[in-house]
Amino acid sequence: MITLRKATLKDLESIHQIETLSFKDGSYPLFVLRQFFDISNEYFYVAEKHHRVVGYALGNHTKTLNQGWILSLGVHPDYRGQNIGKQLTEKLVEILEYNFSSEICLTVHPDNSSAIKIYEALGFENTKSYDAYYGKNEPRLLLKKLMLTKPFNS
Ligand SMILES: CC(C)(COP(=O)(O)OP(=O)(O)OC[C@H]1O[C@@H](n2cnc3c(N)ncnc32)[C@H](O)[C@@H]1OP(=O)(O)O)[C@@H](O)C(=O)NCCC(=O)NCCS
Repeated sequence: MITLRKATLKDLESIHQIETLSFKDGSYPLFVLRQFFDISNEYFYVAEKHHRVVGYALGNHTKTLNQGWILSLGVHPDYRGQNIGKQLTEKLVEILEYNFSSEICLTVHPDNSSAIKIYEALGFENTKSYDAYYGKNEPRLLLKKLMLTKPFNS
């Protein structure tokens, strides 16, 4: 049984471990995760199984643009293929939509088929391809999901 809940400070070391296993040299250091925890707590979720943190999703919302972002998603390698990544992404999309994001954005490596499968299943579409999004040899697709709900004053 998977439980999704908001991340707490106590979860950060487990999240960092999953982040490092997932993104290797490109992973967020612990201090960056701590700073995200402080500024983006509303959009920081973990998945728990048998009282163990096995995945996380991190997002943010820019009010002036009504724009949500999925910034990071990771599932511990021992727990992949159990629909955990999809459930975490769905949760974040739900929270971002609830807070009136008119679009939700994310970037993904073009070869990351498991992640792309999740995003496409949830209605994300490729809007732009970058050869060097994070610098040389760092291609990324910019995926967006347009939301039907809009703030009443937009
Ligand atoms: C991407 C990631 C989060 C997916 O998590 P997960 O819990 O294993 O994914 P899910 O079990 O929810 O699978 C979602 C879908 O992808 C499919 N899938 C899972 N692993 C796959 C693989 N290696 N290749 C192709 N499809 C795959 C599943 O079959 C499922 O499709 P379905 O709903 O049609 O059955 C996980 O692989 C991960 O942490 N990767 C490293 C970090 C990363 O790439 N994050 C995303 C950055 S944008």
